[in-house]
Amino acid sequence: MRNTCSMPSTPANRDETILPTYSKQPRERSCFEHFAEEAKLAELVSDDAANLREAIGGEAYEVDTMYRTFAEQAQAAGDNAAAARFTEVRQDEIQHRDAFTAALNRL
Ligand SMILES: [Fe+2]
Repeated sequence: MRNTCSMPSTPANRDETILPTYSKQPRERSCFEHFAEEAKLAELVSDDAANLREAIGGEAYEVDTMYRTFAEQAQAAGDNAAAARFTEVRQDEIQHRDAFTAALNRL
């Protein structure tokens, strides 16, 4: 059977995530289930604790290495605006890391 699932080119509402969009109609829910099964087969997802640990690792990399290095490089190049922006984004990533850590601790 041919797979007719496709991702929307743009969300109907910028604040709306793809998941609720796919959950509204039976055919779309079927597509969501299809993608969820494919992701599981590709070992992209696991149980909640493992997914959160993976996400925490990604956020920690962004906090401890990526955005810290970007800010340092921008500062060294004399681009204070870019350095400030990377520092600001790093603060956002700290919040993401901490939110995932709190969620993991609640499991
Ligand atoms: Fe993040």
